[in-house]
Amino acid sequence: MSNTKKTFDSISSKYNLINNIISLGMHLKWKNNFTNLLEFNGSVLDVATGTGDIAIMVKKKYPNSDVIGLDPSEKMLQIANSRVTNEHKIKFVQGYCENIPFDDSYFDFITITFGIRNTKSIVDSLKEINRVLKKNGTFLIMEFSKNNNILVKFFYKIYLHLFIPFIGLLFGKFSEYNHLVSTIESFYTPEEMNKILEKNGFKVKRNIRYNLGLVTVYVANNVKF
Ligand SMILES: C[S@@+](CC[C@H](N)C(=O)[O-])C[C@H]1O[C@@H](n2cnc3c(N)ncnc32)[C@H](O)[C@@H]1O
Repeated sequence: MSNTKKTFDSISSKYNLINNIISLGMHLKWKNNFTNLLEFNGSVLDVATGTGDIAIMVKKKYPNSDVIGLDPSEKMLQIANSRVTNEHKIKFVQGYCENIPFDDSYFDFITITFGIRNTKSIVDSLKEINRVLKKNGTFLIMEFSKNNNILVKFFYKIYLHLFIPFIGLLFGKFSEYNHLVSTIESFYTPEEMNKILEKNGFKVKRNIRYNLGLVTVYVANNVKF
């Protein structure tokens, strides 16, 4: 867990810029679509908030929502905080997904974008999300996913093993971006991830696939145990 935290502390100052480059600017479009999926009226926790993209978008679009961003990396959170003013009323809290510092059934919505694959234990993280999310509350995930199509796999390998490490190298962050590639490659297919969610207290309502299924959105309800 602390290695992942170190990785994100180390890349924090270049995170937004490199994200724009390696996604060819598309991550903001995906995030914009993601925050349009529902009316976020109520209390919202953005887990693995990083530099706060989702927390900020949600608060801007749904000013009546109460938004909290959670992340273990102080440096990512410093950047998130520098992007908001007191008027935004977004609170950023340091902490891990496996041990969320809030009471049971506290939130109406929980979001996590490109973060679930970085957690030490997906099952422990889902248990905690299940605990702090209200019954029938909505859990939204956006994450890279494995793809079994041979042609897609071929181009994806080039993208993951040449393009991303090259950009990492250009910015002096080769090993950090290689680590991120390994977390992307070892993640699940959408079908596998749906099963994990269903086994851990969530009912998957919908999957939305972007970029030939390389990125998947999961919309789930908390059915609690
Ligand atoms: C790839 S970034 C995604 C940031 C942001 N959600 C976005 O979409 O740009 C992954 C984030 O997960 C955080 N993270 C790593 N391990 C975590 C954990 N165990 N619990 C919660 N967040 C974690 C990292 O600090 C990092 O900010």
